[in-house]
Amino acid sequence: MHCVFGSSCASLSGTRAKYVNKALLESINIPAANDVPMMQDASESLVLYEALLLRAFDVCGEICRYPKPSDPSAIRIWEASHAFVACGPVACTLRDLCPSGGAVFDAFNKLLVDWPELSSGAMTGEIAYAAVPDLWRRLMCEPPLGTYASLAANFINAHLRPGLKLIELGAGVGNTSRLLNVGADVLYIRTDRSLPLLNQADLPGTTLRYDFNTPSSMTAADIVFAVNAMHCADNPRRTLSYVRAMLRPGGMLILGEGEPRPAGNRPWALDMLCCQFSGWWDRTGFRPRDEWVDDLGAAGYIDIGHQRLFAGEYDLGGLIWARA
Ligand SMILES: C[S@@+](CC[C@H](N)C(=O)[O-])C[C@H]1O[C@@H](n2cnc3c(N)ncnc32)[C@H](O)[C@@H]1O
Repeated sequence: MHCVFGSSCASLSGTRAKYVNKALLESINIPAANDVPMMQDASESLVLYEALLLRAFDVCGEICRYPKPSDPSAIRIWEASHAFVACGPVACTLRDLCPSGGAVFDAFNKLLVDWPELSSGAMTGEIAYAAVPDLWRRLMCEPPLGTYASLAANFINAHLRPGLKLIELGAGVGNTSRLLNVGADVLYIRTDRSLPLLNQADLPGTTLRYDFNTPSSMTAADIVFAVNAMHCADNPRRTLSYVRAMLRPGGMLILGEGEPRPAGNRPWALDMLCCQFSGWWDRTGFRPRDEWVDDLGAAGYIDIGHQRLFAGEYDLGGLIWARA
C-alpha cells in the first residue's frame, strides 16, 4: 500500500507529517504515489540491477581478502564489502543476460586497481576519479544514478511554469540539470558546494556555491530539488529546515534518493563504490524513505509523497516530495 493521502499514510512510517485534504491536493496537481521500473521495460531493469549485484559481489569478495585498512574511508569500503558478502551469493535469475559495460563497471574495476593506495590513505576516491577523464560525469549520468535524475527531471518538467523560481542543491556535474526544460522565463539557480563541479558543464541557469549544511539567504523558491545529494548533509533534518526557509509557502521540495537496502538485508549495489567519497563514508550513505518522511514531517512540510523506483523486487528508492 503506497498512499500519499490521509491517515493510511501513518502505516508508511509512523510519521508526524501533516496532510491536507485530497481534493485540494488534486487541484494543485500533486501526483499520487506510484512505482516505476528503473529502465523503460521492467525486465531490463532487473537485468541491470542483478548485473550490478553480481559485479559488486565479486569486487567485495576481492576486497575482503585484504586486511582491515587504516584509512577511515577505506575502512568503510572494507566494512561495506564484508557486509555485502555476508548476505551470501547473489541469487541472479538472469545471469546470462547481464551486461558488463558502462560507467559503473569501469568504476568497480578502478576500485580494485586503486585499492592498495586507497587502503593506505595514499589516495582518495576524489583524486582517483579526477584522474580519469569523464568517469565521474558518466557515473552520475548513466543508469542507475542517472535514472534518479530522469525521474526528478520528469517530475519537475511537469511542474515548470513561466515565472517560477527553481533552485537545485548538490547539482554537481548536472545529471538532472541537463534534463530540465527550463526556458528564459524560469529563474533557475544551480548550486553545489563545489563550483568546479558545477562549472564542468555548460548548462542553463545561474551557478552559485552553496553548502546545504548552512542556512541560505535564498528565499521564495517555488521548487527546490536535490538528486542523490542531500544524504550527504551533516544533519538531514536540519538541512530540510534550511530548505523549507528557502521555499515560498506551498513551494515544493523534490528529493531523488536511493534506498540503503533494496531487498532483504543486502546493501544497495553501489554502496562500496560510494564509500570512496566524502559525504558517504563519513555519513550514513542512503537513508530509508521512512526516515526522510519523518524528517520532512518534523521540519514542518506537508503533502509528503513518493515515487518508488523498482528493479524486479528491488526497491531502489526514487523520489520523495513535500510542500513547505
Ligand atoms: C552524488 S553527487 C550528486 C549528483 C548530482 N546531481 C550530479 O549530477 O553530479 C553529490 C553532490 O552533492 C554535492 N554535495 C555534497 N555535500 C554537499 C553540501 N554540504 N552542500 C552542497 N552540495 C553538496 C557534491 O559536491 C556532489 O556534487
